[in-house]
Amino acid sequence: MDLGDPRLYGSPGRYAMWHDHATDDAIVWSDPGSSPSGFWSVFSHRACAAVLGRQAPFTSRYGMLIGFDAEHPDRAGGEMIVAADGARHTRLREILGRFLSRPAVAALEPFVRKEVDHLLTEMRETGVVDVARHIGPLLPAAVVCEVLGVPAGDREYVMGLTDAAFAGPGSESTAAASVRAHTEIFCYFGEQLAARNRSPGDDLISALLAEDDLTQDEVLVNCYNLLIGGNQTTRHVIAGCFDAASRTPGLLAAVRADPGVVPAAVEEAIRWVSPGMHVLRVTTAELTLCGQAIGAGEPVVAWLAAANRDPRVFAQPAAYRPDRSPNRHLGFGHGPHVCLGARLARLEIAVLLQALAERAGSVHLAGDPLPTRSNLIQGYRSLPVELRWP
Ligand code: HEM
Repeated sequence: MDLGDPRLYGSPGRYAMWHDHATDDAIVWSDPGSSPSGFWSVFSHRACAAVLGRQAPFTSRYGMLIGFDAEHPDRAGGEMIVAADGARHTRLREILGRFLSRPAVAALEPFVRKEVDHLLTEMRETGVVDVARHIGPLLPAAVVCEVLGVPAGDREYVMGLTDAAFAGPGSESTAAASVRAHTEIFCYFGEQLAARNRSPGDDLISALLAEDDLTQDEVLVNCYNLLIGGNQTTRHVIAGCFDAASRTPGLLAAVRADPGVVPAAVEEAIRWVSPGMHVLRVTTAELTLCGQAIGAGEPVVAWLAAANRDPRVFAQPAAYRPDRSPNRHLGFGHGPHVCLGARLARLEIAVLLQALAERAGSVHLAGDPLPTRSNLIQGYRSLPVELRWP
């Protein structure tokens, strides 16, 4: 079986497969297909954490997605933060981390609140809303564009490109459309860089260009990384909050009664939705994983979404339990590449959940949720909901 085949992930059948593999601490080989060189897969919380941990003999230089091709390594390897290792990776984390630090994220809070307020006002006026298409994507896109300094007028265009780019190899959309969209994103940022080179502003792109040890190419690929990282993940957890609220009577009332419950509810939404389904690494030395000897230079996929439902770590893993504690989910990854935007994502989801509780009486599904059909992004293609207002 080719575990990179996106058709495996559009139905609930994946949960049973993951449950069995996680419980067995399984390691499974997929022959070349979705990934030209084939790949190993691990599923349990323990094995995924081991692959991503600081001491593990793995590199990210070949990229971190299924599609690994030993003949054609990732062109951004060593330049883009998520595909860099060692000292270069540490330096990139330091530079980009300034824009996603605690004070930087705190400074964004009024912007996030304003956007959420605007979106909920729109929902009140609209009636039934497909939050997978209209609310989930808009907030993270607005926020990441604000961080990057993308003009508000370009947001919709840039967001459309990231959708087309990432509906690509792991989904049913055509590879050609995905490649075209990727190219357009790079062209767009190329133009933004040229404009900032001529006349620097006080935004992230200008600040990156001012770093002596970053080339123009590095600035470009890291803007791309932030855009994709910020856009393609958080939106599904935001949609997931509506789904969770519709299935968990009492969630909004609990938040209204005590906003202190929000952080745990947010963490659980991230675990429950697990938008980043997998990450890939390549071994740099021989090792034994889940009882299997693996040679150097072999790709291993850690299925984070499976680990986040490992029944040995999470009781009732399929249930959204807003007070789950402890909640050691791997939704943001683990180890040196743990998500740099986690603080920002948590803020967006928390503000949304709190505002929803403050303003709406209850959330109701107005149609069947449609899941994504991708080996990379787990979430919603469609989630029609109706809010009842007090
Ligand atoms: C890395 C998930 C939101 C920026 C990662 C990784 C995961 C992840 C699993 C690790 C990749 C690896 O190990 O190879 C998520 C989820 C999010 C989210 C589930 C939302 C719920 C964001 C946001 C941003 C962002 C909002 C920025 C605006 C990044 C960056 C990295 C990263 C820059 C690379 C870190 C590194 O390589 O050191 N994310 N992410 N992410 N994420 Fe996120």
